[in-house]
Amino acid sequence: TVPLPIPKTAVPVRPGHYEVVQRAARVEIIPGTTTEIWGYDGTFPGPTFDLRRAGRTVIRVRNELPVPTSTHLHGGVTPPGSDGYPTDLVVAEGRGFRPPPGAHAGHDLSQWTFHSGARDYVYPLDQRAATLWYHDHRMDFTAPQVWRGLAGFLLVRDDEDDALPLPKGARDLPLMICDRSFEEDGAFRYPEVDPSLLVKAGVEDDFMEGVEGDVILVNGAPWPVLDVDAARYRLRLLNASNARRYRLALAPGGRFVQVGSDLGLLAAPVTHEAITIAPAERFDVVVDFSAYPVGTEVTLVNTLGTGSTRDVMRFRVARKAKDDSAVPRRLSRIDPPDRSGAVATRVFDFRMTGQGGGAAWTINGRPFRPGSPLARPRLNTTEVWRFTSDFHHPVHVHLAHFQVLSRGGRPPAPTDAGWKDTVDVRPYEVVDVLVRFEGYRGRYMLHCHNLEHEDMAMMADFEVI
Ligand code: C2O
Ligand code: CU
Ligand code: CU
Repeated sequence: TVPLPIPKTAVPVRPGHYEVVQRAARVEIIPGTTTEIWGYDGTFPGPTFDLRRAGRTVIRVRNELPVPTSTHLHGGVTPPGSDGYPTDLVVAEGRGFRPPPGAHAGHDLSQWTFHSGARDYVYPLDQRAATLWYHDHRMDFTAPQVWRGLAGFLLVRDDEDDALPLPKGARDLPLMICDRSFEEDGAFRYPEVDPSLLVKAGVEDDFMEGVEGDVILVNGAPWPVLDVDAARYRLRLLNASNARRYRLALAPGGRFVQVGSDLGLLAAPVTHEAITIAPAERFDVVVDFSAYPVGTEVTLVNTLGTGSTRDVMRFRVARKAKDDSAVPRRLSRIDPPDRSGAVATRVFDFRMTGQGGGAAWTINGRPFRPGSPLARPRLNTTEVWRFTSDFHHPVHVHLAHFQVLSRGGRPPAPTDAGWKDTVDVRPYEVVDVLVRFEGYRGRYMLHCHNLEHEDMAMMADFEVI
């Protein structure tokens, strides 16, 4: 049995300044074997940045990997120059890199920028407390590079969240859930396809649909176990998988009391028997382990999985303990979304276009074209964005936060509550969201967070003006 790893907390080099090194390392994931990972500080997940609202933070990322990288803070309200644009890359010192010639017809080479060795990302973090995460965002290669381990948590805390009697300290746990496949010797297994090819004639369907692994990891460990007190725990669930969706439930029975969504506290708690979580979504939930007799093993299961993809992790209720936490009936103030305030309505259609060898994942019929925005919303306005799709596409918007207005013409699902940056758009479903453009002008992106789809150019720029 593997104990649940807790990623180490990043330590500043001086107040407000951090340095991380992206490097390869060999770690034991599958007991008895070693896996080469690419990690921030050589760990997978990378270190957790535990930060405060409006505490301007500079993170210097040094790249010592054989490939270029771009780091994006997912959910961050970040100035455009630090948002981790896919062609704004850090290349290891002394290593050259050229954009792939001809891989993307129409790609303008002036859109590519390179930093040699390291660069600073500036995060003002002027936003509500929330469970954010950072990950690689390199053009055409985000999926294989995140698969190798380039992802970690960044928690924003604030006084409002701190003042609530929710579980704290060792009872406040970020859980990064993702799937991977392994070779017999422990190496990560990822299909050998050049994802820079937009045209994928003859590529197996499992790549077209996104790559799934057959081992579920939590904080980088397979099927881990955590000894818990018979008390409430706050679990910050993140689906960091490339493509897999999960339907999480507790066995033998139990409930999740959701207190937060992608971007912080809900207005009021919502109770779920099961939670469907798409790639990049976060659910902040409280589970009360005092509801089980001491000695019970409580399993977090994925009811969409079978065999090795069904079990996620275990909590062993080890001992009785004092618990002064509570889930208050009011958590935060969130005004319900009001469509009438929107200044524009735009449709983004996520779909495969073309056929056979010409098939491509597109938005509004177009593969990603850096520097050619699909929309120009105005700063400090609100718009209705309508997402339509032919498949499961977890749609993610950078910078701007949104609330779900409707799903399939009906009111949002209970799991759609709160402020979000990613929404699971299901096959042939229409999802309307109310997006608020706040923070910065400049170039940002929206894309499918199925990372193989993203690499196959299911991305678009928008420019806040
Ligand atoms: Cu989590 Cu543009 O990504
Ligand atoms: Cu993002
Ligand atoms: Cu997709």
